[in-house]
Amino acid sequence: MGTYLLEISYIIASILFIFGLKMLSHPDTARKGNLWAAFGMGLAILTTILFHTKGTHAIGNHMWILGGLIVGTVIGWLMAVKVKMTAMPQMVSFFNGMGGACAAMISLLEFPHIDASQGMMTGEVLSVLAGLMIGTVSFMGSVIAYGKLDGKINDVKSPILTYVNLAFLISLIAIGAYIMMQPEPNSTMLYVLAIVAAIYGVSFVMPIGGADMPVVISLLNSFTGVAAACGGFLYDNQAMLTGGILVGSAGTILTVLMCQAMNRSLGNVILGAFGGAAAGGGGAVGADGAVAKESTISDAAVVLSYAQNIVIIPGYGLAVAQAQHVCHELEKALANKDVNVTYGIHPVAGRMPGHMNVLLAEADVPYERLIDMEDINDSMPQTDAVLVVGANDVVNPAAETDPASPIYGMPIIQANKAKSIFILKRSMKPGYAGIENELFFADKTRMIFGDAKDTLQKLVSEVKNM
Ligand code: TAP
Repeated sequence: MGTYLLEISYIIASILFIFGLKMLSHPDTARKGNLWAAFGMGLAILTTILFHTKGTHAIGNHMWILGGLIVGTVIGWLMAVKVKMTAMPQMVSFFNGMGGACAAMISLLEFPHIDASQGMMTGEVLSVLAGLMIGTVSFMGSVIAYGKLDGKINDVKSPILTYVNLAFLISLIAIGAYIMMQPEPNSTMLYVLAIVAAIYGVSFVMPIGGADMPVVISLLNSFTGVAAACGGFLYDNQAMLTGGILVGSAGTILTVLMCQAMNRSLGNVILGAFGGAAAGGGGAVGADGAVAKESTISDAAVVLSYAQNIVIIPGYGLAVAQAQHVCHELEKALANKDVNVTYGIHPVAGRMPGHMNVLLAEADVPYERLIDMEDINDSMPQTDAVLVVGANDVVNPAAETDPASPIYGMPIIQANKAKSIFILKRSMKPGYAGIENELFFADKTRMIFGDAKDTLQKLVSEVKNM
């Protein structure tokens, strides 16, 4: 009966994971999707504790398990409640690292219990070793990613690291093969494997540009999924296997999508060729002598209030300024004047996937106002004014016009095609790619310098007073 209930619960959990994941693909349903998947995971954990047996042994130590669950839940809850929106990537990295560490620990604990009567060249041993290697790399890599995102660890760039990393990778495979060729479990070599994997995890992430971390976190996330799937093989646990495979494949797809949206290869991200680019530009005079023109808040408020269609293009600066609420206020103030306001959302605006969607959802901006890049671009020539709020690279026309530009080929929101353009940022400094933006020097562009939140607040009161 217990086994039967366990299998049914695993099927239900797997279905909930799949539905949850599907629902995460739209902001409207994402919150519910997260809850459904969490419910599936809770169910799988509960039924495993109650009904899982290994041979004739049921799972014991219930009080320890309960204690661990309570401590983990409280810490996770507090972290999630307290985290600032700008620190979300760090938190994702931390949680991902914990998953990798769990997968590695399973391997460390199960290895001495391996039954070597059939030899060591078995799927069970392979699962243990792969879980340890991948889980440890994911754990250590995530710790370094966390440190970099939090500004505690700097990039270490050296062409030698590429070769060092290759040497580590080959050593890991060689040590794994050596362990499998032994007649019985060799715990000393297993610890050597764990240590080399830990060092590789550090040296793999060290050279990657700090701002490329979201891509790397997504990659490490897929590693954690694969490591968890190895645990699923080991315990013959379908829920763990399905969950691991889903995380592994979703992480891989997200990594590929992010690279495509930045028009870069994964190799280019991993070698850190772009994230650490030295900042260029930064002056009010462009490369060809063009001068960036400023606008007053009042002038901008007049143009916006008398427009028919306005597109707000948010970027990383919106997150830095935490200007999402006041941005929504401006949108409502303009809507009261019968102006049609929408948001143009670039897939890699900000510093993490869906960054702008999450920020604007936090401010209760209706989802139907958020228009994807491809769709908003079609309407750009008819747009009276765009308000670029803390975005830079994602509206840089060089991506379409300058083959020498490092961002050439990256799809952009074509703000340059709108009738007039207002750019809200603090200075002429470049964005993440470290390059000048010719849009700032266009005839129809006006700069409004200052913190985006301050500027938007002033714009709201001007618009309301008109
Ligand atoms: P960026 O190109 O990085 O530009 C952000 C701009 O915001 C800066 O030019 C900055 O100018 C301005 N800013 C910062 N703080 C501000 C504040 N308090 N008030 C007003 N403005 C402020 O951002 P983007 O256009 O969103 O592009 C994202 C970039 O990140 C792309 O290159 C993308 O490839 C990369 N990236 C994205 C991801 C994901 S998944 N989203 C992952 C890795 C890399 P000032 O300093 O002059 O204010």
